Amino acid sequence: MHYRRLGKSGIKISELSYGSWVTFGTQVDEKLAGELIKAAYDQGVNFFDCADAYAEGKAEVLMGKAIKGIQRETLLISSKVFWPTLPGPNGRGLSRKHITESIHTTLKRMGLEYLDLYFCHRYDPDTPIEEVVRTMNTLIQQGKILYWGTSEWEPAQIALAYGIAKENNLIPPTMEQPQYSLFHRRRMEEHVMPLASELGMGLTTWSPLFQGLLSGKYNDKIPTGTRVSLENYTWVKDRITPERIGRVRQLTELAKELGCTTAQLSLAWILRRKEVSAIITGATRLEQLD
Ligand SMILES: NC(=O)c1ccc[n+]([C@@H]2O[C@H](COP(=O)([O-])OP(=O)(O)OC[C@H]3O[C@@H](n4cnc5c(N)ncnc54)[C@H](OP(=O)(O)O)[C@@H]3O)[C@@H](O)[C@H]2O)c1
Repeated sequence: MHYRRLGKSGIKISELSYGSWVTFGTQVDEKLAGELIKAAYDQGVNFFDCADAYAEGKAEVLMGKAIKGIQRETLLISSKVFWPTLPGPNGRGLSRKHITESIHTTLKRMGLEYLDLYFCHRYDPDTPIEEVVRTMNTLIQQGKILYWGTSEWEPAQIALAYGIAKENNLIPPTMEQPQYSLFHRRRMEEHVMPLASELGMGLTTWSPLFQGLLSGKYNDKIPTGTRVSLENYTWVKDRITPERIGRVRQLTELAKELGCTTAQLSLAWILRRKEVSAIITGATRLEQLD
């Protein structure tokens, strides 16, 4: 495993990491979650990604149980806040109230005293950026989180948050979590990477296999028992277009020539960029994780 700096911060993050969206609490039960996290950790993965909204909190519970027994200091554990977790107008977003209440619930669910990384899961147009920056700064001062970041924020919004933090002597965002893969590259390369380099922010990128499509598993047919057959994820099927499958088939040919799998080539293509600190992978089986 290689470790990269998270932007200009002092921590080192495994360039391959493991996340729990869709999988934990849905396709992956407690026992399997424990096996997958242990296997990833044994291969050198130190960053495990979660969010308050994943499987309505079940993913945080499972991840918390799965990391029990691993030395806490060797891990980087994240969660996120923004998407609705409670009914009512204040059970969502990035208000000081919701962030504060959500982090308390997250820490309880995971059985942790602090998170290493905490992400604002989207930009909240109803909360002033200064309120968000001040709240994150407070959580760092309280020792509940160590580094804060954004996810899928527009570069201008990130720059604003950074500027507000600097002007007010507060801690600016350390990282952004954007989507990046062979099928989703332009926004990242043209807008997000230049800003991240300028500000010294780390990038922890998501959906590296474009929901599994870039593993080549859909090249010939739609196999059963995958993400697309889950009740709430049928929209993933719409992304498996004949045009995309045609391109993945070409990628598979290239991978064969190189003597690797299509998934390995897709991940290696992301790792070529030094702006990327860590790729967050997803896996429902030990073979996929390998
Ligand atoms: N910040 C955000 O807004 C955001 C959004 C999305 C994700 N994320 C993070 O990024 C992580 C990864 O996202 P993702 O799960 O969409 O990643 P992905 O790599 O695009 O898709 C992972 C899925 O692809 C399939 N797969 C993985 N390896 C495979 C292999 N070698 N061969 C065949 N199939 C394989 C599995 O699905 P099957 O069940 O179909 O086999 C697996 O669950 C998430 O867990 C989450 O932590 C963040």
